[in-house]
Amino acid sequence: MIVFDQVSHEFRLGTTHLAALRDVSLSLSEQRIGVIGANGSGKSTFVRMINGLIKPTAGRVTVDGLDTDRDGKAVRRRVGFCFTDPDAQILMPTVAEDLAFGLRGRGLSRDEVTVKVEAALAAYDLLGYRDHPASLLSGGQKQLLALASVLIIEPSVLVLDEPATLLDLANTQRVQRLIAQLPQQVVLVTHHFGLIEDFDRVLVFDAGRVVYDGAPQAAVAHYVGLVR
Ligand SMILES: Nc1ncnc2c1ncn2[C@@H]1O[C@H](COP(=O)(O)OP(=O)(O)OP(=O)(O)O)[C@@H](O)[C@H]1O
Ligand SMILES: [Mg+2]
Repeated sequence: MIVFDQVSHEFRLGTTHLAALRDVSLSLSEQRIGVIGANGSGKSTFVRMINGLIKPTAGRVTVDGLDTDRDGKAVRRRVGFCFTDPDAQILMPTVAEDLAFGLRGRGLSRDEVTVKVEAALAAYDLLGYRDHPASLLSGGQKQLLALASVLIIEPSVLVLDEPATLLDLANTQRVQRLIAQLPQQVVLVTHHFGLIEDFDRVLVFDAGRVVYDGAPQAAVAHYVGLVR
């Protein structure tokens, strides 16, 4: 369960303060949660608070009772985060090494790591790229690798901030099917409404506030209404 209790966030740039999130209170217990809204409306700020990447300037965020500010490390073990820009999270020289990286320090044997890495390569159509330099993958392949590198550590909550911006039709559908099958709670930010059409709950952001909270179709209609 993810809980936002009267949460605000201000970015401070010199003497100017920018309110990116304003007094958000909600509990997220549904399995599939979508987040939509205009550029700059606070979506990324909101989801980054779920794993403590950004801390509240007012209020409190908890995940399963753990405070993202005080217990950041424990929260990050539970919450996997996939960024829009895959270069921000590809850390190792080759594809296989990047997949194995997140499994370090978890008490797995070398063989257990190999089995998991091979399964991930197969699942994401990257078998031919095992020893390929990760930095030289195509943009969409990098997005798939970034997603695979997060899922391989089996987080209990998965936050995806526009994970499909660079994906072709087949890979977008692959990611959509994959998300539908995941056992964990997923919070997905997207401008592609197709990805959230069968989600349990969709939040619409506008100027740092949640202005609609409900079923996908009604949420999209609300957002379209804001734009008009
Ligand atoms: N690190 C930062 N420092 C200062 N201002 C920031 C920072 N990150 C975001 N902002 C500002 O906070 C506001 C909310 O940004 P945020 O990234 O949450 O928007 P978003 O809804 O994710 O937009 P997009 O759809 O473009 O990704 C914007 O006005 C943005 O300029
Ligand atoms: Mg964003």
